[in-house]
Formats: sequence, C-alpha cells, structure tokens
Amino acid sequence: MNTETLIVLLTIGIGILPIIWIRRFFKNWLWGLLLCIGVFTATGAFIWHNVTSSTVSKKKLQSKSLPHPRLAGGYVSSSKCRSCHPSEYASWYHTYHRTMTQAAGPESVVGNFDKVTLKSKSHSFYLEQKDNEFWAQEIYQNPKTNQNEIGTWNQILMTTGSHQTQIYWVQGPQSNQLRIFPFAYLILKNKWVPLKDAFLKYPEQVENENLFWNFNCIQCHATAGQSRPQVRGKTDTRVGELGIACESCHGPAANHVQINQEPLHRYQNHFSKNSDSTIVNPKRESHRSSSQICGQCHGIFYILDLDHAKQHGFQYRPGDDLEKTKPTIRPKLAKWEKLLNDLEKQDPTFLSNRYWSDGMVRVGGREYNGLVESPCYQRGTMSCLSCHSMHNYQARVDQLSEGMEGDQACLDCHSSYRKQITQHTHHPENSAGSRCYNCHMPYTAYGLLKAQRSHQIDNPSVQSSVETGRPNACNLCHLDQTLDWTQRYLNQWYQIPTVNLTQDQKEISAVLLWLLRGDAGQRALAVLTMGWDVAKETSGDKWLAPFLAELLNDPYTAIRFLAGQSLWKIQEFKNLKYDSQAPPKERIDSKNKVLSIWKRAQTSKISQTGKSILIKPDGKVNRGKMLQFLSQRNDRRMDLSE
Ligand code: HEC
Ligand code: HEC
Ligand code: HEC
Ligand code: HEC
Ligand code: HEC
Ligand code: HEC
Ligand code: HEC
Ligand code: HEC
Repeated sequence: MNTETLIVLLTIGIGILPIIWIRRFFKNWLWGLLLCIGVFTATGAFIWHNVTSSTVSKKKLQSKSLPHPRLAGGYVSSSKCRSCHPSEYASWYHTYHRTMTQAAGPESVVGNFDKVTLKSKSHSFYLEQKDNEFWAQEIYQNPKTNQNEIGTWNQILMTTGSHQTQIYWVQGPQSNQLRIFPFAYLILKNKWVPLKDAFLKYPEQVENENLFWNFNCIQCHATAGQSRPQVRGKTDTRVGELGIACESCHGPAANHVQINQEPLHRYQNHFSKNSDSTIVNPKRESHRSSSQICGQCHGIFYILDLDHAKQHGFQYRPGDDLEKTKPTIRPKLAKWEKLLNDLEKQDPTFLSNRYWSDGMVRVGGREYNGLVESPCYQRGTMSCLSCHSMHNYQARVDQLSEGMEGDQACLDCHSSYRKQITQHTHHPENSAGSRCYNCHMPYTAYGLLKAQRSHQIDNPSVQSSVETGRPNACNLCHLDQTLDWTQRYLNQWYQIPTVNLTQDQKEISAVLLWLLRGDAGQRALAVLTMGWDVAKETSGDKWLAPFLAELLNDPYTAIRFLAGQSLWKIQEFKNLKYDSQAPPKERIDSKNKVLSIWKRAQTSKISQTGKSILIKPDGKVNRGKMLQFLSQRNDRRMDLSE
C-alpha cells in the first residue's frame, strides 16, 4: 500500500467516527454534515502535512550531510556562466569532470540497487532503491547463533565517479562527514566488488573503514572545497560546487560576471582581441601555467600550507604558480631529498607505490608528473592542451582535440619526422609499430583496473627495463620476444649501447618474466598488455592462455580479475565461467578448465612454439620452467596509490 492510499483510508476512518457520534446530538443534518466535512478536511490536511514533511526532512538529511554549498572568495558557480557562454557550458556539461562528485539520486547512481545482496569477507549488505533514494542495510552474522541479523539502514548520500568506477558515501560519525561505502561499482563491467578489489592492494590489506571524503578526495574532486575538520569541535565541510566546474580551471569569476553584466563592456569585450583580464583562459596562459591548472589535480603534490588548506581550501588559483603552494613531488630533484626521506620514514612505500625507481610516475591520473619530466615540456612548449581540449574535444572519453589520437600530436612540433617515419621507426609506415605514442608514451602507468599511457615522453630502453623493472615499449607489443632481442634491434637501428642480461632475460620473453615473477604492478601491466588487441595481433594470442590461467589464482584480486578479462578476449575462452572473487578451489577449477580447453585447441591447430614462450616443439608448456618462475614471484606488498 502506498502512502497516499493509507492517508485516504485513515482520513475516511477518522471522518466516519464523528458522523456516527454527531447524529445523536444534532437534529439538524446540515450542521452535522458541515462539521463532519470540517473534521474530515482538517484530519486529512494534518496527516498529509506530516507525511510529506517527513519526506522533506529525509531530503534535508541528505542536504545536511553533504558538503555545505557555499560560494565565497569570488566563486559564483557554473549556473552563472550558462547564459553568456552556452556552448562552453554545454561542452562542459558532457564531461566526466562535471559528474565526478554528485548527490546520490536516480540520475547519478549507476550501481545496481535492485534488491541485491553484496557479500565480502568483512561485510554484507542488502541494497534497495526506495523512491528516489538509495539504501543499504547491513547484515551481520551473530557469532552466538550463527544466524544472519539485520542491522541499520544507511542512505547512500553521494557518489564519486561516473565513468569507470563509482564509489559511494554514507553518513559518517558526525555532522557532514561522509564515510566510504565498502563496495564499489565497476561501471564498464556492471559489477559490484568489495572496495579493496577495485584497486591494486595486497591481499592482507585491511579495508580502511574510516576513509572520509572530507579530508582527501575533496582536494581533486570538487570546486572550491574546504575540509574544515574542526569548527567548534565539528567537521563543517564546504564546497563551491560538488563536481569539477568552470571555476576550477578558470578561477573565481565574480568580477568577470559583474563587469560583463554591463552591455557596453560585454560588447567591447566580445569583439576585442585582447584577453579578458577578469578571467583566466588556459589557452592564453604560458604552457607552464596552463599545465599547472590541470596539474593541481592530475599530479602528486606536497601541500605546503596544509593548515590553511584544511580550513580555507587551497590557496592556488588558476594563473598562480602552483609550485609556490602545492609543489609537485619529483623524486629525482635534489630539493626533494630531505622531505622524501622524512616521508619514507613514516611510510617506507611512499615512493614505490607511486613511482618507478628512476622517478617516472607509475600510477594513473597523475599525468602532470609525467609531463614536467618530458623534454618537450622542459625544452619546448608542450602542455596538456597540446593534445587535450576541455571544450572542443572529439569524444567525452579522454577529451582529445581533433587529430590528437595519432602522430599529429607529435608532428605538430617534430615536423621533420613526417617524411621519414619508416626511416625513424624501422616499421612499415602504417604499422602499429610506427605510431609515435606506442614507442614514446607506452602503457606503463596503472590505475582504475587498466593500463594508462605514460605521459612522460621517453625512448624505449632495455637499460631502463633492467634497472627499474618497467616494461619497455617494444616488449609491451612484441609479447613473444626477449629483452635481448629488443636490445639487439635498438643497437642495430639506433646505436643504443647494449647492457648485460641474465640468462633468463636473454632466453625468455620479457613479458612472460614480468607476468610470472614480477611484482604485482608488473604483473598487472603484463596481464593487461596480453589483452591489448595491438599486441595480440603483433605477437599472436594462441599461446597466452596457459600463462594467463596461472594468474586466475594470483594472490591479488585485481590481477585475477584482469587475467579473466584478458582470457575472455581470446576466442576459445569467450564463454569461460570465472569469478575472481570465488574461493580458491573454484578458481583452480577455472584454471584447469582453461588448460584443458587450450590443450584441445593446441592439438587441432598449428600453434606457436618456441623456447622464449616456454612452449616446447610438441606444443606442450614447459611446466618445469613456468613453475620455477612462479616460485620466484616478487611478493613484496603493493598498494598502488592510484
Ligand atoms: C554577463 C555575461 C557573462 C557571464 C555571466 C560570464 N561571462 Fe565569460 N565572458 C563574457 C564576455 C563578453 C567575454 C569576452 C569574449 C566572448 O564574448 O566570448 C567572456 C570571456 C570569457 C572567457 C575567455 C577569456 C579570454 O581571455 O579569452 C572565459 C574563460 C570566460 N569568459 C569564463 C566565464 C566563466 C567561467 C563564467 C561563469 C563563472 C563566465 N565567463 C560568465 C561574458 C560573460
Ligand atoms: C591528487 C588528486 C586526487 C585525489 C586526492 C583523489 N583523486 Fe580520485 N581521481 C583523480 C584524477 C585525476 C582522476 C582521473 C584519473 C583517470 O582518469 O585516470 C581520479 C579518478 C578517480 C576515480 C574514477 C572515476 C571514474 O569516473 O571512473 C575514482 C573512483 C576516484 N578517483 C576515487 C577517489 C577517492 C575515493 C579519493 C579519496 C580517497 C580520491 N579519488 C582522491 C584525482 C584525485
Ligand atoms: C577542466 C577544466 C575546465 C573546466 C571545468 C571548464 N573549462 Fe573552459 N576552458 C578550459 C580550457 C583548457 C580552455 C581552453 C580551450 C580548450 O581547451 O578547449 C577553456 C576555454 C574556455 C572559454 C574560452 C573559449 C575560447 O574560445 O577560448 C570559455 C568562455 C570557457 N572556457 C568557459 C567555461 C565555462 C562557462 C565552463 C563551465 C560551464 C568551463 N569553461 C569549464 C578549461 C576548463
Ligand atoms: C579540480 C580537479 C581537476 C582539474 C582542475 C582538472 N581535472 Fe581532469 N580530471 C579530474 C578528475 C577527478 C577526473 C576523473 C573524472 C572521471 O573520469 O570520472 C578527471 C578526468 C580527466 C580526463 C579523463 C576523462 C576520461 O576519459 O576518463 C582528462 C583527459 C582530464 N581530466 C584532463 C584534464 C585537463 C587537460 C585539465 C586541465 C585543463 C584537467 N583535467 C583539470 C580532476 C581535475
Ligand atoms: C602528446 C599528447 C598528450 C599530452 C601532452 C597530454 N596527453 Fe593526456 N592523453 C593523451 C592520449 C593520446 C591519451 C589517450 C591514451 C589512450 O589511448 O589510452 C591521453 C589520456 C589522458 C587521460 C586518461 C587516462 C586514462 O587512460 O584514463 C588523462 C586523465 C589525461 N590524458 C590527462 C592529461 C593531462 C592532465 C595532461 C597534462 C599534464 C595531458 N594529459 C597531456 C595525449 C596527451
Ligand atoms: C609543443 C611542441 C612539442 C610537442 C607537441 C612534442 N614535442 Fe617532443 N620535443 C619538443 C622540443 C622543443 C624538444 C627539445 C628538442 C631539443 O632540445 O633539441 C623535444 C624533445 C623530444 C624528444 C627527446 C629529445 C632528447 O634530446 O631527449 C623526444 C623523444 C620527443 N621530443 C618526442 C616527442 C613525441 C613522441 C611527441 C608526441 C607524443 C612529442 N615529442 C611532442 C617539442 C615538442
Ligand atoms: C605497438 C606495437 C609495436 C611496437 C611498440 C613495436 N613494434 Fe615492432 N612490430 C610491430 C608489428 C605489427 C610488426 C610487423 C610489421 C608490420 O606492421 O607489418 C613489427 C615488426 C618488427 C620487427 C620485424 C619482424 C620481426 O618480428 O622480426 C622487428 C625486428 C621489430 N618489430 C622490432 C621492434 C622494436 C625493437 C621495437 C621497439 C623499439 C618495436 N618493434 C616496437 C609492432 C610493434
Ligand atoms: C619503434 C619505436 C619508435 C617509434 C614508433 C617512434 N620512435 Fe622516436 N625514437 C625511438 C627511439 C628508440 C629513439 C631513441 C633514439 C636514440 O637514442 O638515439 C627515438 C628518438 C626520437 C626523438 C629524439 C631524437 C633525438 O635526436 O634525440 C624524437 C624527436 C622522436 N623519436 C620522435 C618520434 C616521432 C615524432 C615519432 C612518430 C612519428 C616517433 N618518434 C616514433 C623509437 C621510436
């Protein structure tokens, strides 16, 4: 029964009582009737008011618990820009920037709340949508009776992300603290996973239950945020806007709006070729300043004014020098040495969870760190806007400007290469092996369950692979080749000196070694490149299955998940049943299933064999070697700070 029906029934019920009673006292029917109608209406109105106002107060609960909207310091919000800049407003409206942080509601929540139950080692929840609200009821197991018991309902108040992964927030212990909900929704896979499994975290890692949006995520996921952790003993977090809006990139615009309100000024301004000094246009800024506008979020930085930042938000405004208040952490610069030593004392994995050992960033979403280490930025004028556009982009995903998905991005500046592509790349001109990005910006960063292009322009180098463990561009595409093979060609083609290699590095495919005995970060990149269409076309994919099968039982859930993904992309395993969260026994069953399918396919088709890929001339896997490499797996704990 819905609320409206209940109200009508109750009203009629309560209305009838006085009719019976009144009949006794009033001879005059008319009086009686009027009085009845009066009571009837009053009761109805009373109940109606109470029920609807309780929905209002529920809504209020949500608005009380969300960061309080407050525009100060010259911020005016995106709604003010729309009338004068309708096309920029529209192009921004379609970006993932806008929808990064949203109040939970039918338009923002992507996860499946259709009466589903989620279970992990530590939590169990029943999810349900009630009208326009999303609720999660905790289910406990009573240790005495071993029975499931029902706990409290939590309302989902806010969402993070709208693209790959969506994370949810519920009421924290006090005022408007938002506590993370322990499951995440993988949007592209339509799947709930325990929060921890959406990231590359070591198996024993316990979920941080006390992760609050207010003190960390706010930094890069909202406009003009202020954590305000302690205001009269309470958290009182504020934001200008929940998403990443106009003024994150253009700076506070009160002045700009006010001045342009005047028609004459607006007219002059519109036809003038000069910049409008009341607002920042990243396009007109120096390459350094415009990149910093993005770098305020797409980078790893150190907050110099931490106390101030907590209370008032960052001091940095577009157009300022980011280095003055939020310097970018560049591990190889001497000036960072002391500070990094201190940071490493508190957290010995600070660097290794973020950077390769030569200082190149290894996690996704931190492109600014890559950019500032690039020769094209340091000695040239490359900026994020050389390739990306925030308003004239081709697609919502990646927001690249026209033509920038290919060589044009480099040829704009390195035009002499246009006429000598093959001469430079030693691959046919139309080959994937001739694309600048594939050799100079390979997929060596990891984040959000995918490999991301390194944004540090670099050359393929076997020496770097040996010293840092970072896969090089050639071996990420030539899956079946050894480091030795690569360095021979690098030497022959580019006169790059060769380095000493171990016997295994000389004989075994580089990517297989990273896959079987690498650390979790290397394994993830190896598994992912085995699912990359371009690499599979270059190297053939018939031989990959028995190795990917081993990783279906990797200790890291994220890696198991990705191994399943890469297997599904191979014809024979399209329909394989596999769940990365299943208990070990089921995972091993899946692994054995893959091996038996593979063996069958292997005998019926002529397949790839070779010493480097551990497949013997008779088509069988060299299991001895494979198990030996697996036993050498680098099990150092990783918790990549994606
Ligand atoms: C009352 C009208 C008006 C409002 C409101 C307004 N602008 Fe403008 N804006 C203008 C005019 C006029 C120009 C001059 C160029 C043009 O016509 O595009 C301009 C130019 C700009 C430029 C380019 C400056 C340059 O030097 O190239 C940016 C960026 C900009 N506005 C951002 C914003 C943002 C962000 C908001 C909302 C917070 C906003 N504007 C609100 C009228 C307005
Ligand atoms: C230093 C800035 C920064 C901080 C702090 C930060 N993020 Fe992010 N986050 C980013 C950037 C940049 C991206 C985009 C990365 C990409 O597309 O590769 C991102 C993307 C994400 C995504 C994926 C969104 C989607 O649509 O798929 C999630 C989920 C996410 N962050 C969660 C968090 C959470 C939770 C916190 C707080 C604990 C947090 N982030 C803190 C900068 C940050
Ligand atoms: C993530 C950063 C970002 C956000 C958010 C953003 N912009 Fe921009 N805006 C830029 C950049 C960068 C440029 C330079 C041109 C480009 O990249 O397309 C620009 C250019 C502009 C221009 C000048 C256009 C021109 O021809 O030079 C206007 C006007 C503008 N933005 C208004 C807005 C408004 C209004 C909003 C919000 C509704 C907004 N921007 C949101 C980054 C942003
Ligand atoms: C206030 C913080 C912030 C600023 C400023 C910012 N970004 Fe982002 N950016 C993010 C976050 C967070 C995401 C993740 C959004 C998502 O994917 O849902 C993101 C996503 C992106 C994406 C990826 C969208 C996708 O396909 O996943 C690109 C590209 C991007 N930003 C480029 C830029 C550029 C270029 C600038 C500077 C002009 C910039 N950003 C400024 C925080 C920011
Ligand atoms: C030389 C061109 C170029 C420059 C400069 C560049 N990017 Fe990119 N960026 C790309 C390309 C190409 C992709 C898409 C990669 C792919 O195909 O997966 C990309 C992807 C991204 C993504 C999405 C990553 C992912 O896989 O989710 C983000 C975020 C991003 N860039 C941010 C930035 C920021 C911020 C800057 C400046 C600090 C920047 N980029 C500079 C070319 C560039
Ligand atoms: C905005 C212009 C610009 C863009 C875009 C650009 N570069 Fe550069 N690049 C330069 C400049 C300038 C240098 C420094 C040249 C010098 O010092 O002689 C450079 C240097 C390099 C170097 C290193 C040279 C060395 O001495 O170490 C490589 C490699 C390189 N670029 C490749 C690329 C690739 C690949 C792309 C596309 C992904 C690209 N560049 C995009 C301007 C650019
Ligand atoms: C993105 C994929 C890709 C990358 C990166 C790449 N290649 Fe290739 N390579 C190919 C493809 C595809 C072919 C086959 C030729 C064609 O395109 O028809 C090839 C062919 C070759 C060949 C000749 C055929 C063979 O297998 O003997 C050699 C040698 C070679 N590549 C070496 C390299 C080296 C060294 C690098 C790094 C400097 C490299 N490749 C980077 C895709 C790639
Ligand atoms: C097959 C891999 C491969 C591809 C594809 C490739 N490069 Fe290179 N590139 C290299 C290597 C290796 C070097 C380092 C050569 C050296 O150390 O002398 C290099 C060096 C460079 C340099 C620096 C040259 C110097 O004098 O230091 C530039 C600039 C450059 N490449 C631009 C490009 C551009 C532009 C494209 C796309 C048209 C491209 N590269 C495609 C492998 C590649």
